[in-house]
Parts: sequence; structure tokens; C-alpha cells
Amino acid sequence: MSENKPVILTCAQPTGGLTIGNYLGAIKNWADMLEGNTCFFGIVDMHAITVDYTPAELRKNSLSCVAQYIACGIEPEKANMFIQSHVTGHAELAWVLSCITPLGELQRMTQFKDKVQVQAKTQGLGSNIEGDDSIENQDPTSRVSINSGLLMYPVLMAADILLYNADAVPVGADQKQHLELCRNLAQRFNQRYSDTFKVPEPFIPKFGQRIMSLQDPTRKMSKSDPNKNATLFLLDDPKLIKKKIMSAVTDSARDIELSESRPGLSNLINIYSAFSDQTPESIVQSFKGKGYGDLKSDLADLVIEKLKPVQERYHNLMKDPAYLEAVLKEGAEAAQKQAFKMLRKVYKKSGFLNRS
Ligand code: TYM
Repeated sequence: MSENKPVILTCAQPTGGLTIGNYLGAIKNWADMLEGNTCFFGIVDMHAITVDYTPAELRKNSLSCVAQYIACGIEPEKANMFIQSHVTGHAELAWVLSCITPLGELQRMTQFKDKVQVQAKTQGLGSNIEGDDSIENQDPTSRVSINSGLLMYPVLMAADILLYNADAVPVGADQKQHLELCRNLAQRFNQRYSDTFKVPEPFIPKFGQRIMSLQDPTRKMSKSDPNKNATLFLLDDPKLIKKKIMSAVTDSARDIELSESRPGLSNLINIYSAFSDQTPESIVQSFKGKGYGDLKSDLADLVIEKLKPVQERYHNLMKDPAYLEAVLKEGAEAAQKQAFKMLRKVYKKSGFLNRS
């Protein structure tokens, strides 16, 4: 790894196919950072086991995820792509960091509270918890059976970042709070044990940072949404893309305008903007006098056109699993070098006796 190039680190969970939220909020921007930086792009399988999952699916999704990364324009010659569990150090550093993380900070994490709500629902406890404003002051585990990995999730994420001494972390807006915790932990460790970690900067794109559900535009588009029309996946075929966009929930107003009180419309304009690199203002201008039907139909055509080459590349890559495994092997080797270096430093500062 070149010492003077800035380090970019970011990751995605291999829990099912990637969505256009993952693409526009994150992966599309990673591809723009390949020049002039040392890039580490992880596939975080250890994070993926914090929720219900099937081992065989996880294995399949992990390989599919690297194919999707490459298909989205991440050139293996210019970035280190690796599977989190292939690199020793993530869990070890997470343990050290957990010892300087107050429990309350983890219990206050928005994503943790959201996941508790989801698990409460699946455990038939939804009505006890929903709408309970005082939830953050309670121990959620008292009512819902939550695994502690879910609580520890942001510490593992901080370890993913700090292990590589990352300068910048390109993510969607939903990861902002986790990044803030990571920065706090880096500063806390540095204060306690002397300067060790860089304090990483989040890189959140202007357009596409928060793609919303097509069926409930007040909620984030998510891989795990039970409503299959809510989420557009990178690998959806053109017919399905058209169907999902044409049935996106909007409102009863007619004209196309920029208005915060019209979340469904704003979401469609935002997706349009992120895929076309046009500003929302110029998109509104070009739909002057037209209605939802025109906007949705043009947007569907745009998304289909933009995803076509990604899908073609993906299907070709999946025919050659040996190549994908080789990419991951090389990525893990480069990541491991850096991880061992950092872990050694952290262990020394923590007062652990040198291994002779
Ligand atoms: P994950 O797998 O949920 O998402 C991967 C990336 O996609 C972004 N994203 C979105 N952006 C815009 N709109 C959306 N609807 C949307 N949904 C997802 C996410 O912000 C993310 O950048 N905790 C992380 C994975 C992680 C990580 C890390 C990220 C683990 N360790 C270290 C960065 C650095 C997550 O669950 O991402």
C-alpha cells in the first residue's frame, strides 16, 4: 500500500441482492474514487449474521456481491475487494473498541432501535413497543429477544474502518450515525493511549444519499422490505423495473415540482437525478406541463438503460466463480497486511505483551 495515497474504506452487507439505494448512495461513488486513492471495499459477512439468515444463502450472496461490485465499475486492478471474515483483525479490534464504548451509546443508535422494532414485530410484540417514545430509556432486551451482535454492530463497523486507518468512508446518509460513533471511538482511543487512528471523514453524496421505498416514501429503500414492489434491485429485469416504478406511491397532485411535502415525487426526482447526473431543478424544468405518467415512464426507461450494462457484466462474471474467488483472495491478502500492521500497533498500545 502506498503510504501517501489517501485510504478509502467502505463496505456493504451481502444480505441478498444490492438495491438501487446501495448503488446510488454508495457503490456508484466508490467507482469514482479508484484513481489516486488506496481503496478497500469489504463484503461484511460478519455483520450479515446479526439478523436471521441461511448459511448457504450467505455464501452465495457473498460471491454474488463481489460480482455486483465489479459490474458496477469497481475495477479489481484498482481496488482491494475482500470478504470481512477472510481478514483476521476485524473482530479483534472490535473487541478492544468495545471496551471503550459506553453501552448507552449503542442502545441509542437509530438502526439498532429500528431493528429491535422489526424483531419485536416478528416476535409478535409489535404493539407493545411501537409508538413507545421512552424506548430509548429502557432495556429493549427486556421485552424482545435480541442477540448482542445486533447491539455491537456499530463497534464492528468502527473496527472495519479504523483497521485500515481510512481517511474517507463513502456511504449513504443512513450510516452517518455509525460514522459519528466511529469518529468518537478513534478520538477516545487516541486520547487514552496516544495518537493511533486517523479520524475518518464520511463522504455522503449530494444526490442519491437517501433513496426511499417506492411504496412508502417516508421510509428508506431496503433490501429486506417485505413489500417486493418497494425495492428496486440492481438485477431486476426491465419488465419488473417498469412495473415497480409505474406503481410507485405518489400523491394526487398533478404537476411536477420540487416540494418537501410530496415525498413520493421527491424520491422519483432524486432517483432520476442520481442516475442522470442532472440537477433536480433541471429535471423539474424538463417535465413542465407533464404529469406523473410521463415522469415514471421516462424514469423507468432511464433506470433500465443504466442498469443494462451492469446486469450484462454481472451475468458474465458469475459464469467464472474461479475468477471472483481469485479477486477476493488477492483483496484479502492486501487487506490482511494492513490489518495485521494496525492490530499489532493497537495491541501494543493496549498493553498486551508482545508475541515473541
Ligand atoms: P448496507 O449493506 O446496508 O448498505 C451499503 C451501502 O449502501 C448505502 N445505502 C443507501 N444509500 C442510499 N439510499 C438507500 N436507501 C440506501 N440503502 C443503503 C449504505 O449507506 C451503505 O453505504 N453498516 C453498513 C455496512 C458496513 C460498513 C462498514 C459501511 C459495515 N462496515 C464500514 C462502511 C464502512 C451497512 O449495513 O450497509
